[in-house]
Amino acid sequence: MTAINVSHLSKSFGKVVAVDDLSFEAPAGAVTAFLGPNGAGKTTTLRLLLGLVAQTKGRATIAGVPYRDLDRPILHVGAVLEATAFHPGLTAYAHLEAVRIASGLDRERVGQVLDDVDLGAAGHRRIGGFSLGMRQRLALATALLGRPHTLILDEPANGLDPAGMRWLRGFLRGYALDGNSVLISTHVLAEVEQIVDHVVIISGGRLRWSGPFDGGRALEELYLEVAE
Ligand SMILES: Nc1ncnc2c1ncn2[C@@H]1O[C@H](COP(=O)(O)OP(=O)(O)O)[C@@H](O)[C@H]1O
Ligand SMILES: [Mg+2]
Repeated sequence: MTAINVSHLSKSFGKVVAVDDLSFEAPAGAVTAFLGPNGAGKTTTLRLLLGLVAQTKGRATIAGVPYRDLDRPILHVGAVLEATAFHPGLTAYAHLEAVRIASGLDRERVGQVLDDVDLGAAGHRRIGGFSLGMRQRLALATALLGRPHTLILDEPANGLDPAGMRWLRGFLRGYALDGNSVLISTHVLAEVEQIVDHVVIISGGRLRWSGPFDGGRALEELYLEVAE
């Protein structure tokens, strides 16, 4: 089964071709690493998948449907893009409760997602006092509220310390083992090598390699061979 399908997708910003006839799939129940150097087009592709920018050409679908056509997308897809902004005066609990109510989700979800990301003890503290790692986990908790089957994370390790990254790897591994799908972009291979099932490598907006990854060879070796 395919969670995410990108087909002949292109996006230009004026003369800059950020994504260029890109096609790949991210399978269900797997962690897919979306790799490429800075400026390769990773963030633009994820924004296209989430309907945040309109494509110039092609199609991107989640569970077979373009994001904008999903019925209650929060129930299907959770996303954490760069630089999530929170109101610093709110507690984590209040932030999540506001999103929960706006989305019509069950009351118990807020406590559950706080526990899922190990923020249970900090739920009633103000976000303004949170470390970057705690904010990242709160962003993840927000993405998990609707029990989505697909998670899309853009460079989630930025700002995480080694312990935070280790925690995130364990979380994502377990999430995929439960049958969900994870698409995670990064330019730091070591962050994802241990948990990856499937790899998509792009450079200059174009696909360089995609396929299952079984750890039979080093991810870095594959990447350096195809990406640059
Ligand atoms: N909103 C935008 N306006 C103009 N150019 C953009 C915009 N967003 C991205 N780009 C350009 O598109 C290319 C791909 O960027 P991006 O998708 O952010 O790459 P990555 O996430 O892989 O680092 C870069 O050349 C970048 O400068
Ligand atoms: Mg990016």
